[in-house]
Amino acid sequence: MPQTSHPAPGGFPPFIYGTAWKEDATHSLVRKALEAGFSGIDTANQRRHYVESAVGDAVAEAVKEGVTRREDIFIQTKFTYAEGQDHRIPYDAGADPATQVRQSFESSLKHLQTDYVDAYVLHGPSVRRGLADRDWATWRAMEAIHAEGGARRLGVSNIELDQLEALVDGAAVKPVFVQNRCYAQLEWDRPIRDYCRTHQIVYQGFSLLTANAFLLFHPGVRRIASRVGGTTEQVVFRFAIQLGMLPLTGTTSPVHMRQDLDCAAFTLTDDEVRYMEGIALP
Ligand SMILES: NC(=O)c1ccc[n+]([C@@H]2O[C@H](COP(=O)([O-])OP(=O)(O)OC[C@H]3O[C@@H](n4cnc5c(N)ncnc54)[C@H](OP(=O)(O)O)[C@@H]3O)[C@@H](O)[C@H]2O)c1
Repeated sequence: MPQTSHPAPGGFPPFIYGTAWKEDATHSLVRKALEAGFSGIDTANQRRHYVESAVGDAVAEAVKEGVTRREDIFIQTKFTYAEGQDHRIPYDAGADPATQVRQSFESSLKHLQTDYVDAYVLHGPSVRRGLADRDWATWRAMEAIHAEGGARRLGVSNIELDQLEALVDGAAVKPVFVQNRCYAQLEWDRPIRDYCRTHQIVYQGFSLLTANAFLLFHPGVRRIASRVGGTTEQVVFRFAIQLGMLPLTGTTSPVHMRQDLDCAAFTLTDDEVRYMEGIALP
Protein backbone atom coordinates (compact mmCIF):
# COMPACT_ATOMS: atom_id res chain seq x y z
CA MET A 1 0.00 0.00 0.00
CA PRO A 2 1.35 3.48 -0.76
CA GLN A 3 2.67 5.39 2.21
CA THR A 4 1.27 8.81 2.91
CA SER A 5 3.72 11.68 3.17
CA HIS A 6 1.31 13.06 5.76
CA PRO A 7 0.99 10.16 8.21
CA ALA A 8 -2.08 10.07 10.41
CA PRO A 9 -1.67 12.07 13.58
CA GLY A 10 -0.74 9.99 16.62
CA GLY A 11 0.20 6.93 14.60
CA PHE A 12 -3.47 6.06 14.02
CA PRO A 13 -4.64 4.57 10.72
CA PRO A 14 -4.68 7.21 7.96
CA PHE A 15 -8.26 6.30 7.02
CA ILE A 16 -11.22 4.74 8.85
CA TYR A 17 -13.78 2.47 7.26
CA GLY A 18 -17.27 3.41 8.48
CA THR A 19 -19.92 0.73 8.85
CA ALA A 20 -23.18 2.69 9.12
CA TRP A 21 -26.25 1.79 7.03
CA LYS A 22 -24.84 -1.48 5.68
CA GLU A 23 -27.28 -3.85 7.36
CA ASP A 24 -26.94 -7.37 5.89
CA ALA A 25 -23.91 -6.34 3.83
CA THR A 26 -21.95 -5.24 6.92
CA HIS A 27 -20.06 -8.51 7.35
CA SER A 28 -18.96 -8.86 3.73
CA LEU A 29 -18.08 -5.15 3.35
CA VAL A 30 -15.97 -5.04 6.52
CA ARG A 31 -14.22 -8.16 5.32
CA LYS A 32 -13.57 -6.54 1.92
CA ALA A 33 -12.37 -3.35 3.61
CA LEU A 34 -9.84 -5.29 5.69
CA GLU A 35 -8.67 -7.14 2.59
CA ALA A 36 -8.34 -3.84 0.72
CA GLY A 37 -6.01 -2.58 3.45
CA PHE A 38 -8.17 -0.59 5.89
CA SER A 39 -6.95 -1.04 9.44
CA GLY A 40 -9.40 1.34 11.13
CA ILE A 41 -13.07 0.39 11.59
CA ASP A 42 -15.81 2.63 13.00
CA THR A 43 -19.07 1.26 14.37
CA ALA A 44 -21.59 1.93 17.15
CA ASN A 45 -23.79 -0.07 19.49
CA GLN A 46 -26.78 1.51 17.77
CA ARG A 47 -28.70 -1.12 15.86
CA ARG A 48 -30.76 1.57 14.14
CA HIS A 49 -27.78 2.49 11.92
CA TYR A 50 -25.09 -0.15 12.56
CA VAL A 51 -24.76 -3.92 12.91
CA GLU A 52 -21.94 -4.03 15.45
CA SER A 53 -22.11 -7.83 15.80
CA ALA A 54 -21.52 -8.25 12.04
CA VAL A 55 -18.44 -6.02 12.32
CA GLY A 56 -17.19 -8.34 15.09
CA ASP A 57 -17.91 -11.43 13.00
CA ALA A 58 -16.01 -10.03 10.01
CA VAL A 59 -12.99 -9.00 12.08
CA ALA A 60 -12.89 -12.36 13.89
CA GLU A 61 -13.11 -14.19 10.58
CA ALA A 62 -10.34 -12.09 9.02
CA VAL A 63 -8.10 -12.63 12.05
CA LYS A 64 -8.81 -16.37 12.04
CA GLU A 65 -7.93 -16.61 8.36
CA GLY A 66 -4.71 -14.65 8.80
CA VAL A 67 -5.82 -11.58 6.80
CA THR A 68 -4.88 -9.36 9.74
CA ARG A 69 -4.26 -9.46 13.49
CA ARG A 70 -6.45 -7.95 16.19
CA GLU A 71 -3.54 -5.81 17.41
CA ASP A 72 -3.15 -4.39 13.91
CA ILE A 73 -6.76 -3.24 13.71
CA PHE A 74 -8.08 -0.04 15.24
CA ILE A 75 -11.65 -0.72 16.37
CA GLN A 76 -13.80 2.21 17.41
CA THR A 77 -17.34 2.00 18.73
CA LYS A 78 -19.79 4.35 20.42
CA PHE A 79 -22.19 4.78 23.29
CA THR A 80 -25.51 6.17 21.98
CA TYR A 81 -28.21 7.71 24.15
CA ALA A 82 -31.66 6.10 24.07
CA GLU A 83 -32.99 9.06 22.01
CA GLY A 84 -30.63 8.03 19.21
CA GLN A 85 -31.73 4.38 19.28
CA ASP A 86 -34.77 2.60 17.91
CA HIS A 87 -36.53 -0.11 19.96
CA ARG A 88 -33.32 -2.22 19.95
CA ILE A 89 -31.61 -0.44 22.86
CA PRO A 90 -28.55 -2.38 24.01
CA TYR A 91 -29.00 -1.49 27.71
CA ASP A 92 -31.67 -0.81 30.33
CA ALA A 93 -32.91 2.64 29.31
CA GLY A 94 -34.43 3.12 32.77
CA ALA A 95 -31.09 2.65 34.52
CA ASP A 96 -28.76 5.49 35.58
CA PRO A 97 -26.26 6.73 32.94
CA ALA A 98 -23.29 4.85 34.45
CA THR A 99 -25.19 1.55 34.29
CA GLN A 100 -26.31 2.27 30.72
CA VAL A 101 -22.73 2.90 29.61
CA ARG A 102 -21.49 -0.20 31.40
CA GLN A 103 -24.18 -2.41 29.85
CA SER A 104 -23.71 -0.92 26.38
CA PHE A 105 -19.94 -1.36 26.58
CA GLU A 106 -20.18 -4.99 27.76
CA SER A 107 -22.53 -5.69 24.89
CA SER A 108 -20.11 -3.99 22.44
CA LEU A 109 -17.26 -6.22 23.62
CA LYS A 110 -19.45 -9.29 23.03
CA HIS A 111 -20.49 -8.06 19.57
CA LEU A 112 -16.91 -7.24 18.64
CA GLN A 113 -15.49 -10.45 20.15
CA THR A 114 -12.71 -8.56 21.87
CA ASP A 115 -11.74 -7.56 25.39
CA TYR A 116 -10.84 -3.96 24.51
CA VAL A 117 -11.66 -1.31 21.95
CA ASP A 118 -9.13 1.13 20.57
CA ALA A 119 -11.52 4.05 20.92
CA TYR A 120 -14.81 4.49 22.76
CA VAL A 121 -16.82 7.46 21.55
CA LEU A 122 -19.78 9.34 23.02
CA HIS A 123 -22.08 9.54 19.99
CA GLY A 124 -23.09 13.07 20.90
CA PRO A 125 -23.95 15.24 23.90
CA SER A 126 -27.55 15.04 25.15
CA VAL A 127 -28.12 18.80 24.75
CA ARG A 128 -27.41 21.31 21.99
CA ARG A 129 -25.42 23.83 24.04
CA GLY A 130 -23.20 23.11 27.01
CA LEU A 131 -23.11 19.75 28.72
CA ALA A 132 -25.82 18.32 30.97
CA ASP A 133 -25.29 16.38 34.21
CA ARG A 134 -26.21 13.30 32.21
CA ASP A 135 -23.30 13.91 29.81
CA TRP A 136 -20.90 14.21 32.71
CA ALA A 137 -22.19 11.01 34.33
CA THR A 138 -21.79 9.28 30.96
CA TRP A 139 -18.27 10.61 30.44
CA ARG A 140 -17.23 9.59 33.99
CA ALA A 141 -18.46 6.06 33.23
CA MET A 142 -16.43 6.06 30.02
CA GLU A 143 -13.40 7.26 32.00
CA ALA A 144 -13.84 4.30 34.36
CA ILE A 145 -13.86 1.91 31.39
CA HIS A 146 -10.71 3.60 30.10
CA ALA A 147 -9.03 3.26 33.54
CA GLU A 148 -9.82 -0.47 33.56
CA GLY A 149 -8.20 -0.89 30.14
CA GLY A 150 -11.43 -1.63 28.26
CA ALA A 151 -11.11 1.44 26.05
CA ARG A 152 -7.65 2.55 25.01
CA ARG A 153 -8.85 6.07 24.14
CA LEU A 154 -12.00 8.13 24.49
CA GLY A 155 -13.67 10.32 21.91
CA VAL A 156 -16.75 12.40 21.29
CA SER A 157 -18.89 12.97 18.22
CA ASN A 158 -21.36 15.55 16.91
CA ILE A 159 -20.02 18.21 19.24
CA GLU A 160 -20.02 22.02 19.18
CA LEU A 161 -16.98 24.08 20.13
CA ASP A 162 -18.35 25.31 23.50
CA GLN A 163 -19.18 21.74 24.44
CA LEU A 164 -15.75 20.47 23.48
CA GLU A 165 -14.07 23.21 25.49
CA ALA A 166 -16.18 22.32 28.53
CA LEU A 167 -15.44 18.63 28.12
CA VAL A 168 -11.70 19.15 27.82
CA ASP A 169 -11.74 21.49 30.84
CA GLY A 170 -13.64 19.09 33.08
CA ALA A 171 -12.56 15.66 31.90
CA ALA A 172 -10.09 13.58 33.90
CA VAL A 173 -9.50 11.57 30.72
CA LYS A 174 -9.49 14.01 27.80
CA PRO A 175 -10.97 13.04 24.45
CA VAL A 176 -8.35 11.89 21.95
CA PHE A 177 -10.85 12.02 19.06
CA VAL A 178 -13.57 14.30 17.82
CA GLN A 179 -15.77 12.85 15.06
CA ASN A 180 -17.86 15.46 13.25
CA ARG A 181 -19.71 16.00 9.99
CA CYS A 182 -17.62 18.22 7.78
CA TYR A 183 -19.11 20.88 5.48
CA ALA A 184 -16.97 22.84 3.03
CA GLN A 185 -19.40 25.75 3.56
CA LEU A 186 -18.35 25.84 7.21
CA GLU A 187 -14.69 25.88 6.26
CA TRP A 188 -14.57 22.19 7.01
CA ASP A 189 -15.49 22.69 10.70
CA ARG A 190 -12.57 25.04 11.10
CA PRO A 191 -13.09 26.32 14.70
CA ILE A 192 -13.29 22.78 16.02
CA ARG A 193 -10.37 21.60 13.90
CA ASP A 194 -8.29 24.51 15.16
CA TYR A 195 -9.20 23.69 18.75
CA CYS A 196 -8.38 20.01 18.19
CA ARG A 197 -4.98 20.88 16.74
CA THR A 198 -4.00 22.97 19.75
CA HIS A 199 -5.26 20.33 22.21
CA GLN A 200 -3.71 17.22 20.66
CA ILE A 201 -7.11 15.88 19.60
CA VAL A 202 -7.41 13.99 16.33
CA TYR A 203 -10.27 15.29 14.20
CA GLN A 204 -12.19 12.54 12.40
CA GLY A 205 -14.26 13.93 9.52
CA PHE A 206 -17.33 12.18 8.12
CA SER A 207 -19.71 12.97 5.25
CA LEU A 208 -16.74 14.52 3.45
CA LEU A 209 -18.23 13.49 0.10
CA THR A 210 -21.93 13.29 0.89
CA ALA A 211 -22.11 16.71 2.59
CA ASN A 212 -20.06 18.32 -0.19
CA ALA A 213 -21.35 16.63 -3.33
CA PHE A 214 -21.03 19.84 -5.37
CA LEU A 215 -17.24 19.52 -5.12
CA LEU A 216 -17.19 16.32 -7.11
CA PHE A 217 -18.17 18.29 -10.25
CA HIS A 218 -16.44 21.53 -9.32
CA PRO A 219 -14.09 22.75 -12.10
CA GLY A 220 -11.35 23.68 -9.61
CA VAL A 221 -11.42 20.25 -7.98
CA ARG A 222 -11.50 18.63 -11.39
CA ARG A 223 -8.39 20.59 -12.35
CA ILE A 224 -6.54 19.29 -9.29
CA ALA A 225 -7.77 15.75 -9.96
CA SER A 226 -6.47 15.95 -13.49
CA ARG A 227 -3.07 17.28 -12.32
CA VAL A 228 -2.60 14.44 -9.80
CA GLY A 229 -4.17 11.79 -12.04
CA GLY A 230 -6.88 10.91 -9.53
CA THR A 231 -10.63 11.33 -9.07
CA THR A 232 -12.34 14.32 -7.46
CA GLU A 233 -13.35 12.02 -4.56
CA GLN A 234 -9.70 11.18 -3.99
CA VAL A 235 -8.80 14.87 -4.05
CA VAL A 236 -11.33 15.59 -1.28
CA PHE A 237 -10.00 12.77 0.89
CA ARG A 238 -6.38 13.70 0.22
CA PHE A 239 -7.14 17.31 1.08
CA ALA A 240 -8.75 16.19 4.37
CA ILE A 241 -5.67 14.16 5.28
CA GLN A 242 -3.34 17.03 4.46
CA LEU A 243 -5.47 19.32 6.66
CA GLY A 244 -4.66 16.93 9.51
CA MET A 245 -7.96 15.05 9.54
CA LEU A 246 -8.51 11.37 9.91
CA PRO A 247 -11.23 10.82 7.29
CA LEU A 248 -13.99 8.22 7.29
CA THR A 249 -15.34 6.54 4.20
CA GLY A 250 -18.23 4.12 4.09
CA THR A 251 -17.90 3.11 0.47
CA THR A 252 -19.66 -0.08 -0.58
CA SER A 253 -17.41 -0.56 -3.62
CA PRO A 254 -14.13 -2.51 -3.46
CA VAL A 255 -12.82 -0.31 -6.30
CA HIS A 256 -13.58 2.83 -4.30
CA MET A 257 -12.03 1.25 -1.18
CA ARG A 258 -8.77 0.96 -3.09
CA GLN A 259 -9.10 4.44 -4.54
CA ASP A 260 -9.80 5.96 -1.12
CA LEU A 261 -6.68 4.34 0.36
CA ASP A 262 -4.64 5.17 -2.73
CA CYS A 263 -5.18 8.91 -2.35
CA ALA A 264 -2.05 8.64 -0.18
CA ALA A 265 -0.14 8.18 -3.44
CA PHE A 266 -0.26 11.88 -4.38
CA THR A 267 0.19 15.18 -2.59
CA LEU A 268 -1.65 18.46 -3.06
CA THR A 269 0.44 21.61 -3.13
CA ASP A 270 0.06 24.13 -0.30
CA ASP A 271 -1.77 26.41 -2.74
CA GLU A 272 -4.21 23.62 -3.62
CA VAL A 273 -4.87 22.89 0.05
CA ARG A 274 -5.54 26.60 0.69
CA TYR A 275 -7.80 26.72 -2.35
CA MET A 276 -9.80 23.70 -1.18
CA GLU A 277 -10.05 25.08 2.34
CA GLY A 278 -11.80 28.21 1.12
CA ILE A 279 -13.60 26.69 -1.86
CA ALA A 280 -17.13 27.27 -0.53
CA LEU A 281 -16.56 30.61 1.14
CA PRO A 282 -18.29 33.67 -0.36
N1 LIG B 1 -20.82 9.98 14.42
C1 LIG B 1 -21.87 10.06 13.64
O1 LIG B 1 -22.94 10.54 14.04
C2 LIG B 1 -21.76 9.58 12.23
C3 LIG B 1 -22.72 9.98 11.30
C4 LIG B 1 -22.57 9.56 9.98
C5 LIG B 1 -21.52 8.72 9.63
N2 LIG B 1 -20.63 8.33 10.58
C6 LIG B 1 -19.54 7.40 10.24
O2 LIG B 1 -18.91 7.82 9.06
C7 LIG B 1 -18.95 6.75 8.10
C8 LIG B 1 -18.96 7.31 6.71
O3 LIG B 1 -20.16 8.00 6.49
P1 LIG B 1 -20.22 9.16 5.42
O4 LIG B 1 -21.48 9.90 5.72
O5 LIG B 1 -18.94 9.88 5.40
O6 LIG B 1 -20.25 8.44 4.07
P2 LIG B 1 -21.13 7.26 3.48
O7 LIG B 1 -22.55 7.40 3.85
O8 LIG B 1 -20.46 6.02 3.82
O9 LIG B 1 -21.06 7.56 1.94
C9 LIG B 1 -19.87 7.64 1.24
C10 LIG B 1 -20.29 7.93 -0.18
O10 LIG B 1 -19.16 8.27 -0.93
C11 LIG B 1 -19.05 7.38 -2.03
N3 LIG B 1 -17.64 7.12 -2.25
C12 LIG B 1 -16.68 6.79 -1.33
N4 LIG B 1 -15.48 6.69 -1.92
C13 LIG B 1 -15.67 6.96 -3.24
C14 LIG B 1 -14.83 7.01 -4.36
N5 LIG B 1 -13.51 6.77 -4.26
N6 LIG B 1 -15.38 7.32 -5.58
C15 LIG B 1 -16.69 7.57 -5.69
N7 LIG B 1 -17.55 7.54 -4.65
C16 LIG B 1 -17.04 7.23 -3.44
C17 LIG B 1 -19.85 6.16 -1.67
O11 LIG B 1 -20.38 5.53 -2.81
P3 LIG B 1 -20.01 3.98 -3.12
O12 LIG B 1 -20.60 3.18 -2.03
O13 LIG B 1 -20.66 3.77 -4.45
O14 LIG B 1 -18.53 3.93 -3.18
C18 LIG B 1 -20.96 6.76 -0.82
O15 LIG B 1 -22.02 7.23 -1.61
C19 LIG B 1 -20.20 5.96 8.49
O16 LIG B 1 -20.19 4.65 7.98
C20 LIG B 1 -20.08 5.99 9.98
O17 LIG B 1 -19.13 5.03 10.41
C21 LIG B 1 -20.73 8.75 11.86
